[in-house]
Amino acid sequence: LQLIRNLVCVEYTGSYTMNRSVIFEDYYQNKVTFSCDLNPFSAHPKHVWVICQFHDQWLLTRHPRRGWEFPGGKVEKGETAEEAAIREVYEETGAHVSSIHYIGQYKVEGKSGTIIKNVYFAKIDEVKLKDDYMETQGPIFLNELPKNIKDNHRFSFMMKDEVLEESLKHIRHHLVKN
Ligand code: GTP
Repeated sequence: LQLIRNLVCVEYTGSYTMNRSVIFEDYYQNKVTFSCDLNPFSAHPKHVWVICQFHDQWLLTRHPRRGWEFPGGKVEKGETAEEAAIREVYEETGAHVSSIHYIGQYKVEGKSGTIIKNVYFAKIDEVKLKDDYMETQGPIFLNELPKNIKDNHRFSFMMKDEVLEESLKHIRHHLVKN
């Protein structure tokens, strides 16, 4: 897997801004471009992904096909991406988001089209037991994320590319200290 760091020029509100992005291939060899700039690829992304922290644990969800992953999903009509992030966390884990921070945005160029997803870091103050977790099988609590996620069949492919590494780096450097 080749990691290419590059500088891209993006037209943004009429002026040109230099943005730093990272390009890599995902688990399925699709091209992914990740950036911590604000909405570098779309002001209205249709997907969200939320890295959740519940006290000193990570909070994930168990997807019936993909396995363990941080919660997320599609932005619904009339919703902002941030509202979708908060809703998806509740639907898939029963968790209440107490604070949410934008981390970045990524674009996946796949065989059947391109998707653009916002990544957030959310702090959770309460997790309610529910009867129904919509598309997933409910919450997973982890004390730490293992080093070998890429080789671990329990984890979803979404946890196996540099989006997670880059996002965790951003959280450590800019958002929290445990
Ligand atoms: P759902 O079953 O409703 O989730 O729809 P879908 O299977 O059509 O998936 P979706 O529209 O969410 O994504 C389409 C494709 O984009 C997926 O099959 C993946 O290949 C890719 N994709 C979606 N989300 C991610 C992601 O977070 N990371 C990576 N690398 N690829 C993704």
